[in-house]
Amino acid sequence: MSQLQVTDSDLLESLKKKVFDKSARVGVVGLGYVGLPFAVEKAKVGFHVLGIEQNSIRAERVARGDNYIGDVHDEELKEVVENGLITTTTSFDRIPELDVIVVCVPTPLDKNLAPDLQYVSGVSAEIGKRLRRGQLVSLESTTYPGTCEEVMLPFLEAGGLKVEQDFYLAHSPERVDPGNKRYSTKNTHKVVGGVGPQSLDAAVAFYSQTIQNVIPVSSARAAELTKVFENTFRAVNIALVNELTLLCDRMGLNVWEVLDAAFTKPFGIMPFYPGPGVGGHCIPLDPHYLEWKARELNFTTRFIGLAGEINRAMPEFTVRKTGRVLNEAGIALSKANILVIGAAYKKDIDDWRESPSIEVMRLLINEGAKLSYHDPYVPHFKEHGLELVSTALTPDALRSSDLVLILTDHSCIDYRAVAEQSPRILDTRNATRGLSGFSNITLL
Ligand SMILES: NC(=O)c1ccc[n+]([C@@H]2O[C@H](COP(=O)([O-])OP(=O)(O)OC[C@H]3O[C@@H](n4cnc5c(N)ncnc54)[C@H](O)[C@@H]3O)[C@@H](O)[C@H]2O)c1
Repeated sequence: MSQLQVTDSDLLESLKKKVFDKSARVGVVGLGYVGLPFAVEKAKVGFHVLGIEQNSIRAERVARGDNYIGDVHDEELKEVVENGLITTTTSFDRIPELDVIVVCVPTPLDKNLAPDLQYVSGVSAEIGKRLRRGQLVSLESTTYPGTCEEVMLPFLEAGGLKVEQDFYLAHSPERVDPGNKRYSTKNTHKVVGGVGPQSLDAAVAFYSQTIQNVIPVSSARAAELTKVFENTFRAVNIALVNELTLLCDRMGLNVWEVLDAAFTKPFGIMPFYPGPGVGGHCIPLDPHYLEWKARELNFTTRFIGLAGEINRAMPEFTVRKTGRVLNEAGIALSKANILVIGAAYKKDIDDWRESPSIEVMRLLINEGAKLSYHDPYVPHFKEHGLELVSTALTPDALRSSDLVLILTDHSCIDYRAVAEQSPRILDTRNATRGLSGFSNITLL
């Protein structure tokens, strides 16, 4: 065995030792929906975590123990901050102090639906300038297969260090499902792939400290593809039930009844539900990362294209159906008072990014409707030139509307009271499931 190999393996063993005895210093770049819960989980088991967050307001809030992410418990953040286990900075200067650097920055699309990796590249360049031997860099952001090796690695090796020999690079995609009370970061299996075996070894050691089941795969690319496939699977299946909804609408059938019946089959099927469109940071975006990468190989991912087309048409369909329900009552959409329930992209969360509710609201306003909305999780939003403030869900507001449009099925809403006090309702989420005898409710 050469001297170099002994030194390399010493380097890896020394990192793993620090991980096992929790003396490893952990950096989390990007303290958003993914990064902040991640930082808290690591701090709770005893790691000292440094949050590197470019938004100084967020960095200061975390440093004060002031939580802004729904999936993080206020008390837990306060406790780890008070114990000195989480500190924050807006600068990358402290990268050399860290043993593990986890990157949780956004991976949006540009206006042509192409991956926008400016955050991943920018952060990799900053880390690369300061990288030292023995560090593990792990990307948590969702992205196309090849990002770690093709985008990050050149920045990280720019200073002369070599991956697998001097430092380690892995991908472990975050699977957090915001608002999910049963599955959190801790009890959700975590896929890990390294750009080589040493990187995988280091990453598995690190993630096993807080995750019950770590699933190693053979490469960072395989891990990257796993994540985009998971979200593509969801997007395609949602598109399938959305397409069924359009067909049921023409056939005069209740799609929810058909789906409920279909999902009683105990094998070979799993539940997905229609709605006014797809939203959030994952389902509308991630499949396009794969679609874009496939094009490089002269391969067309037809399911992804079709699913995107169907899902993107749902806000328009929702508006058409709203117009139809009003029309049946002799009310023109352009003169209607519409009260929307729900701005968040899914129930029980405060995230309205890419929310189909906002697209539906925008389209209704374009049609001339007078619109107000209620969302206890989203008191205010500003998007695409539309700025609205949530109004109270009072009996007066319900009675004086021409139509109540349920776009997000938050659990805290009293749907019976809504049904009793509203002249007519279009329910796009079957939030009124279980209420019987209300002829004023139309389902999507
Ligand atoms: N939100 C989810 O439910 C979810 C689930 C799984 C995976 N993901 C993926 O995780 C990644 C992060 O998503 P998110 O929802 O946490 O995003 P987010 O916007 O909530 O958080 C990202 C944070 O990174 C910060 N940031 C951006 N550039 C930075 C820089 N150069 N230096 C330091 N900080 C920087 C932003 O200020 C922000 O606070 C994305 O790739 C997303 O697709 C998200």
